[in-house]
Amino acid sequence: MPSPNIVYCKARVSDAAEIKLLIDNARILSRSIDDILHEIRSFFVAKDSGRIVGVIAVDIIDSDYAELRSLAVNQGFRGKGIGTRLVELALYEAKLLDARHAVGFTKSPDFFRKFKFRVAKDNELPESLKKSCISGCTGIVINLDEIDYVIKY
Ligand SMILES: CC(C)(COP(=O)(O)OP(=O)(O)OC[C@H]1O[C@@H](n2cnc3c(N)ncnc32)[C@H](O)[C@@H]1OP(=O)(O)O)[C@@H](O)C(=O)NCCC(=O)NCCS
Repeated sequence: MPSPNIVYCKARVSDAAEIKLLIDNARILSRSIDDILHEIRSFFVAKDSGRIVGVIAVDIIDSDYAELRSLAVNQGFRGKGIGTRLVELALYEAKLLDARHAVGFTKSPDFFRKFKFRVAKDNELPESLKKSCISGCTGIVINLDEIDYVIKY
């Protein structure tokens, strides 16, 4: 059930410290404050009364691939549809930017199946993406032609 009080928006410079804390608490690939600030335009956040409770980033890798990174939802806010909404936002953004595929590395490939992601074949993903691959992660990919919804934020 989507949470009605959550606001979704592009991140701002002033959000960087809270984004870092959320990512680190979720025990996914850590990002430094400098890295987050440098890439701040790629982040979307979910806010509850001004506090950041969810985050995702969309990086453009090359003319074909956009990478979804740093998806995390505050533990007390999970199961309310926030992660789903953030992935939808990121996929829509990637499509708007004319990427052909969205990719990611995740320890939770099952979470992404409902968005029509599939597990990537060996060597299917660009070499440059390997930086995001931490041990135990699975590469996933989706063809953005399959995304046919429109999102407003
Ligand atoms: C994965 C994560 C982002 C999901 O956020 P969320 O806001 O709880 O997601 P939603 O409420 O939109 O979840 C919707 C569905 O996904 C399922 N789901 C949640 N986490 C899952 C997981 N790790 N694996 C498989 N399914 C999962 C839920 O059971 C729910 O199913 P339903 O729609 O059938 O009820 C959140 O659990 C999280 O931050 N985890 C730690 C970091 C992480 O694993 N990030 C993923 C990238 S590596």
